[in-house]
Amino acid sequence: MARALDIILLCSWLFFTCIAQAQTGPIDVTQLGAKPDGSADMSQVLADAWKQACNSTTASTILIPKGTFLLKEANLEGPCKAPVEIQIQGTIKAPEDPAQISKDKEWMTIIYVDQLTLSGGGTLDGQGAKAWTQNECRVKTECSKLPNTLSLNFVNNTVIRDLTSLNSKLFHVNLFGCNNITFQHFTITAPGDSPNTDGIHIGHSTGVVITDSNIGTGDDCISIGDGAKQVNISKVTCGPGHGISVGSLGRYDNELPVEGIFVTDCTISGTLNGVRVKSWPASKSGSATNMHFEGIIMQNVSNPVIIDQEYCPNNQCTNTAPSSVKIAQVSFKNITGTSATPAVVTLLCSKSIPCEGVEVADIDLAYNGNQGNVSSNCANVKPALSGKLNPPICANATVPAQAA
Ligand SMILES: *[C@@H]1O[C@H](CO)[C@@H](O)[C@H](O)[C@H]1NC(C)=O
Ligand SMILES: *[C@@H]1O[C@H](CO)[C@@H](O)[C@H](O)[C@H]1NC(C)=O
Ligand SMILES: *[C@@H]1O[C@H](CO)[C@@H](O)[C@H](O)[C@H]1NC(C)=O
Ligand SMILES: *[C@@H]1O[C@H](CO)[C@@H](O)[C@H](O)[C@H]1NC(C)=O
Ligand SMILES: *[C@@H]1O[C@H](CO)[C@@H](O)[C@H](O)[C@H]1NC(C)=O
Ligand SMILES: *[C@@H]1O[C@H](CO)[C@@H](O)[C@H](O)[C@H]1NC(C)=O
Ligand SMILES: *[C@@H]1O[C@H](CO)[C@@H](O)[C@H](O)[C@H]1NC(C)=O
Ligand SMILES: *[C@@H]1O[C@H](CO)[C@@H](O)[C@H](O)[C@H]1NC(C)=O
Repeated sequence: MARALDIILLCSWLFFTCIAQAQTGPIDVTQLGAKPDGSADMSQVLADAWKQACNSTTASTILIPKGTFLLKEANLEGPCKAPVEIQIQGTIKAPEDPAQISKDKEWMTIIYVDQLTLSGGGTLDGQGAKAWTQNECRVKTECSKLPNTLSLNFVNNTVIRDLTSLNSKLFHVNLFGCNNITFQHFTITAPGDSPNTDGIHIGHSTGVVITDSNIGTGDDCISIGDGAKQVNISKVTCGPGHGISVGSLGRYDNELPVEGIFVTDCTISGTLNGVRVKSWPASKSGSATNMHFEGIIMQNVSNPVIIDQEYCPNNQCTNTAPSSVKIAQVSFKNITGTSATPAVVTLLCSKSIPCEGVEVADIDLAYNGNQGNVSSNCANVKPALSGKLNPPICANATVPAQAA
């Protein structure tokens, strides 16, 4: 009798250690049945792991160990009871065929979560190559929108570090309705000719830091849309791609202001634009203020510094009335290097609402081409100029570049 009781006690003691361990150690997806073989879909396993982690009353970690995992789709929804970390050490691959991802969903969606960390040194491989060539959105308006790799919607206090996003079908990362999001040591890679593969798009979000990161893609490295506030971008290398862009603004009704954008200590290489602010002609109203670009090295960039309030790709604008987006308190300081075209600093502001409070200081940009002449054209702006300016800013003439 006494012996049987011993065994029962031992068993229940073991049972409790098991539960205690499940709560403190990482939740390893391979222990829940995920296979690192690149072909077994881990969607259900990740959903189960998320349910467990998100329901934990103490901080928890989901581990995706080394190996290649196929994931058809993830919808990770909060609120959770405590902080969650997802440590991705391996490669998570999306299905090649976008039709395998639910219509109107992204590949990985994270929504209503606070205090999340994505880390681990691994890779999110969007496998976009097939989708880029087959998708019809570039040639037809009737088309199915491709999924982004990672969408964070209404997510707060979150860190994304030591990860790589590779070959997204559409954007690599899309932020909407977020607060306090940091990207650090984040690498984004897609070919320079891959369509609409923006690196990080920031919309309706406050407090976004992107630092020590390397972004090369087929569209904007970072695009800042309406409602973005307090965005700090530093020590980012960008290229190939279309540069770091604010806008395009003014296309839709009720766009929220863009406010407080700091881009410092960045290197931009071989891109279509360097730092750019763009809005549509004949636009809805909007504003972009308190934006500062400082300490930027350009390497063979086609439009190193550009404000373009007549932005109209593919001549799709029938009405050429001026933009109603207000651009104010903008500085461009300490911008050096080379341009792939003669137009190195272009500031084309709106005729109806000229740019205000624009400062340009310490510019030294040379044209890479044979003629060696550079120009800076401006309209509807009177910038405050200081420091060494090569070429003269807003002189509207092609002048021989001075030796740097
Ligand atoms: C969440 O955890 C509680 C105990 O903390 C448990 O009772 C409940 O069943 C769990 N819910 C889910 C969906 O796992
Ligand atoms: C995120 O922060 C906003 C603003 O403080 C708050 O309204 C929202 O509930 C928070 N969301 C989560 C998931 O914690
Ligand atoms: C931002 O989020 C990080 C990570 O959760 C946190 O450590 C930090 O305190 C937050 N900052 C603010 C101002 O809330
Ligand atoms: C961004 O940088 C500015 C100026 O350096 C600083 O005042 C601000 O607190 C920073 N914001 C965030 C969200 O880190
Ligand atoms: C200008 O920017 C470069 C590149 O970011 C930086 O190394 C340098 O210190 C800056 N110079 C000044 C005077 O701030
Ligand atoms: C500069 O960029 C242009 C246009 O993208 C390209 O044709 C040219 O080869 C580049 N030059 C160098 C030196 O990289
Ligand atoms: C300077 O160039 C811009 C762009 O080509 C043009 O819109 C503007 O009218 C020019 N300004 C002057 C004073 O010629
Ligand atoms: C470069 O500038 C010089 C002097 O202003 C001018 O004579 C020459 O035509 C310009 N070259 C080009 C290609 O614009």
